[in-house]
Amino acid sequence: MTDTTKAATTYGTYLKIDELLTLQEPRSAGPEHDEMLFIIIHQVYELWFKELLHEFDRVMRLLEGDEPHRAQHTLKRILTILKVMVAQLDILETMTPLEFLSFRERLDAASGFQSDQFRQVEFLLGVKSEHAIQRFAEGTRARTALARRYAAPTIWDAFLRYLAREKYNVPAAQLSRAVDRPVEPSSDIQKLLVDVYRGDPKNAELCERLVDLDEGVQEWRYRHVKMVERTIGAKPGTGGSAGAAYLRETIGRPAFPDLWAIRSQL
Ligand code: HEM
Repeated sequence: MTDTTKAATTYGTYLKIDELLTLQEPRSAGPEHDEMLFIIIHQVYELWFKELLHEFDRVMRLLEGDEPHRAQHTLKRILTILKVMVAQLDILETMTPLEFLSFRERLDAASGFQSDQFRQVEFLLGVKSEHAIQRFAEGTRARTALARRYAAPTIWDAFLRYLAREKYNVPAAQLSRAVDRPVEPSSDIQKLLVDVYRGDPKNAELCERLVDLDEGVQEWRYRHVKMVERTIGAKPGTGGSAGAAYLRETIGRPAFPDLWAIRSQL
């Protein structure tokens, strides 16, 4: 028998539209027109970060389960989302420096710098930093999530373990490395990757998707710093860093350095 007392699911109830639409609260007086865009675009990014983390968890499980084709399929989805994330910066670039200044002081110390989900993505890629965890108060969702990802293997670790099961001679020290340390370049791994590229098209293809991923994240960093330069110039960031000068240092630091190093050895 069907339960006639239960309201049918609708678009609005399933997606919690009423709740969602109450979450944008401009702080400027007026409020300033452009603050709505600023809030919505950051919220959209946080949702994309959530989806990326969801997909990365799947890539990890698929690599651990020796399913490289399905891992690649999921990586393709991640890369497509990343492209959309980069493209979205165009929207924010329609905001002029003066339009941003009209509400900037209301942000206090708020900055994307404090996005724990962005740091979680970095941790998954092997960009690990204990300092990044300590910025969040004990007992918060953000700190718990970051601490868990800090102690967990990175995508690179899952990939090396997969290659070892594919009978590549991955050094034991790499397989048992402390996964809470940043990923460092390794000449042993580079030698092995050259063999993959020369004689193993299936796994070379997987390597290429990881390079796409690394390049995609660097592309986002580059576009973000350009947007920052055109919006606030050389001013310090609301998060307390030197601003664009700090951000420029993060560009061009690859997540998977070995995959870049071998290009000149092929
Ligand atoms: C007018 C728009 C924006 C400006 C002026 C801006 C400015 C900055 C600045 C100056 C920093 C350096 C940290 C600091 O001192 O605050 C930063 C970091 C950051 N921003 Fe933005 N940002 C903007 C939009 C966005 C958007 C839409 C996102 C999307 C989530 C974002 C995500 C981040 C992240 C993740 C960092 C940390 C990067 C890292 O540490 O490598 N920002 N931003």
